[in-house]
Amino acid sequence: MVVMQNTSASTGSVYLIGAAGQLGRALIARIPDTREPARVRPLTSADIDITDATSVAVALAGLTADDVVINTAAYTDVDAAETDRAAAYRVNADGPAHLARATAAVGAWLIHISTDYVFSGSALGGTSERPDEEPEPRTTPYEPDESGAVVPATVYGASKLAGERAALAADGRTTVVRTAWVYTGGPDSRDFVGTMRRLEQTRETVSVVDDQLGSPTYALDLADGLWELVSIGPVRGIAGATLHATNGGRATWCDVARAVFIEVGADADRVHPCTTAEFPRPAPRPAFSVLSGASWADAGLTPLPEWSAALHRAIAAPVAADGSLP
Ligand SMILES: NC(=O)c1ccc[n+]([C@@H]2O[C@H](COP(=O)([O-])OP(=O)(O)OC[C@H]3O[C@@H](n4cnc5c(N)ncnc54)[C@H](OP(=O)(O)O)[C@@H]3O)[C@@H](O)[C@H]2O)c1
Repeated sequence: MVVMQNTSASTGSVYLIGAAGQLGRALIARIPDTREPARVRPLTSADIDITDATSVAVALAGLTADDVVINTAAYTDVDAAETDRAAAYRVNADGPAHLARATAAVGAWLIHISTDYVFSGSALGGTSERPDEEPEPRTTPYEPDESGAVVPATVYGASKLAGERAALAADGRTTVVRTAWVYTGGPDSRDFVGTMRRLEQTRETVSVVDDQLGSPTYALDLADGLWELVSIGPVRGIAGATLHATNGGRATWCDVARAVFIEVGADADRVHPCTTAEFPRPAPRPAFSVLSGASWADAGLTPLPEWSAALHRAIAAPVAADGSLP
């Protein structure tokens, strides 16, 4: 059987897997005006179980070569994954493999979302001429294919890396998009920004780790970037590529917390810096996980805005009565 492959901008349907999750909801909130809403098919975990090949086959039975599947579904509880390894791998590794087999079978295009946790996250990255000297702190953002750095330190990261590889092995035209530190930031949201907004209301001071550097990313900006990716299509340089998409710049969690306090008109000095060692977690957190935007720009995509400007918009965004995203 000859499978026709679409290599131009998508004119078919876009299947959104993980539609009830944070990024899935952002993608729905940001469906471009140019795209017919009926041709966006949100699938929640009630509609599809990506760990089950039969469920995937049934849910994607109508898939054609013109269609796009965006997989935002994942096992995202980083700490729980340390002791729930099998479940994390079922969702994060087997799931994308099932989806990629479905897209490969008809020549559709899979966009699979992954994470900064595939990198080691080591704070050290410099080289020293003298072996007795301390290695220098890492300052260079990660590029997608950086040799020696794609070494996850957690079960979650390892399962996500296994998913990237499984998806690309099953469908070589898959585009993997890694992102990081995603938030929506609404006052009721469970993400970091929402949590800081609530703590600002209830606590005089908060202690926030100041020794992890990363790329805070507003879910709605990421959604806009993904829709732009869909509009370009699986052209050369995008099909089969691994890209990084985060808001620009870098920050520690403490920087983000202080910026939240400033945005809501509170005194940023009420946020006290602390160290990761003071808040041990089951899964180690990366000390450095800033992702480079070069691959995204090189693919012809618009760089996502700076994180501080994005945070400003997130906090200023009106909250709908039903809690839906602006
Ligand atoms: N959040 C971040 O900071 C962050 C950072 C870097 C990368 N990412 C990546 O970005 C993507 C989106 O993350 P997110 O923040 O939107 O996560 P999320 O809010 O936890 O949403 C994940 C969704 O996946 C669904 N899901 C889980 N298992 C499933 C299964 N077997 N079949 C079908 N659906 C299933 C969940 O549905 P139920 O709730 O019904 O189980 C949930 O709606 C993920 O790939 C994640 O690894 C996230």
